[in-house]
Amino acid sequence: MTHIEDARQAPWKTAAVRGPTPPRLLGGLTWRGAALAGAFAVASGLAIAARRRGSLLRQGRALPRFAPADKTLAAASPAMLAGTPERRLYAGRDLTRAVTIEDLRATAHRRLPRFALEYLEGGAEDEATLAHNIAAWAQWRFAPRALIDVTQRDLSTELFGRRMAMPLVIAPTGLNELFWPHADRRLAEAAAAAGVPYAQSTMSNDPMAEVARVPGLRHWWQLYVFGREEIRNALIDRAHDVGCEALIVTTDAQTYGNREWETRNNADPKNLSWGTKIDALLHLRWLIAGLLLHGMLRFANVVDFVPKDRRRFFDSAMWIRSQMDHALSWDTVKRIRDRWPRRLIIKGLLTVEDVVRAAEIGADAVALSNHGGRQLDWAVAPVDVLPEARRAVSNRLALFVDGGIRRGSDILKALALGADAVLVGRAVLYGVAAAGMPGATRALAILREEIDRDLALLGARSISELGPRFLARPH
Ligand code: FNR
Repeated sequence: MTHIEDARQAPWKTAAVRGPTPPRLLGGLTWRGAALAGAFAVASGLAIAARRRGSLLRQGRALPRFAPADKTLAAASPAMLAGTPERRLYAGRDLTRAVTIEDLRATAHRRLPRFALEYLEGGAEDEATLAHNIAAWAQWRFAPRALIDVTQRDLSTELFGRRMAMPLVIAPTGLNELFWPHADRRLAEAAAAAGVPYAQSTMSNDPMAEVARVPGLRHWWQLYVFGREEIRNALIDRAHDVGCEALIVTTDAQTYGNREWETRNNADPKNLSWGTKIDALLHLRWLIAGLLLHGMLRFANVVDFVPKDRRRFFDSAMWIRSQMDHALSWDTVKRIRDRWPRRLIIKGLLTVEDVVRAAEIGADAVALSNHGGRQLDWAVAPVDVLPEARRAVSNRLALFVDGGIRRGSDILKALALGADAVLVGRAVLYGVAAAGMPGATRALAILREEIDRDLALLGARSISELGPRFLARPH
């Protein structure tokens, strides 16, 4: 090989021939050193990420935060003796083998890169609200009735004057496309097939009008109040024009909760770290189906309100966040009430006084919610407030409750305590993140089967029979 050929392939070699000092990069690092360091960094990144994936496959042992003793995690099971029989959640692609929401969750953990998982799972600060949302359901036990003929069971219920197949609504969640291409549409299709409403978020990625075209859908629109009044009026009018049945005004996210793990994992979202990039590369199915084939995410329903030079994905997210209306008040909600002629739901209330006020301003429903533990840490769980809220408003408005619902039994408890229906966030997102529309459908089917079976075991024939007499709260 001549020196010239040599030089084309490795510049530092020519330099070595020409003189004693090889060219240096910043900090005195040689090209060879940089190349070696780069190779080492890539190799160790690959090794760390591969180990992390491997450990996730052992979900039965490795599932972290959502593991209070009252949940059915293998690690906490009294059926095990010193680790036997060894139990693992199913984390594969055959949806018929996913028997619980936790199985779909395990599959989602396997499929998604870490930053997407942090976005999906994480809560604010110490995640005390997040943990309590789960634990709060465990405070209630069933008191079943014996010797009841439960041959015929009816899970359907009436909401806003229409029947729905079961008392469940898919909660509004933003940025769903991070989990699956066109996830908003896929969730809407799953909801329509299951006969339940789908609430689409202001921060969704599929255009409202496209979701509205899903046949048979009960389409609800969730409104974040940000920017000039014309923005929210335009969104309300659009929701009206595409035929949305209900408008949800979310009240608990005007200030963005501090999800520290998201920040720790990915300090600068506009400038992804090498670890994050390598992790994304290691989740090839997610990467190819999403970013490579589908392209960069956009907030399709609000991007036209964003200044032209801020419309790239992260810029637009930051701009919208900076425009959230910190002055949002009951007066604003009253004005929204006046503009929106259909069903109005106020989401994010956690005190009886606020629920009563919502009834007074003419809301049709309240969603008791702490935003899935993602906003104020150390908040009460919605179910803690539910019985008193129901007593205070009687039947003047519908009450929804959400947070930590992962089982049909959680839903039955909510209904027995006075909810008309529940909103379900992560449980269905695990499904869509695991397998798109069929995954979301599977999540809804699992919840439905659990409601149906537990209803029979409780000695109740229909949702309408449920009440506090089916519950006990052991001290
Ligand atoms: C949410 N939530 C939410 N709420 C809302 O009103 N607008 C939104 O855009 C979002 N976005 C969002 C994203 C993600 C990833 C999650 C998990 C949640 C809150 C949501 O509507 C609901 O209140 C919670 O998800 C309920 O808790 P679980 O079911 O997730 O435990």
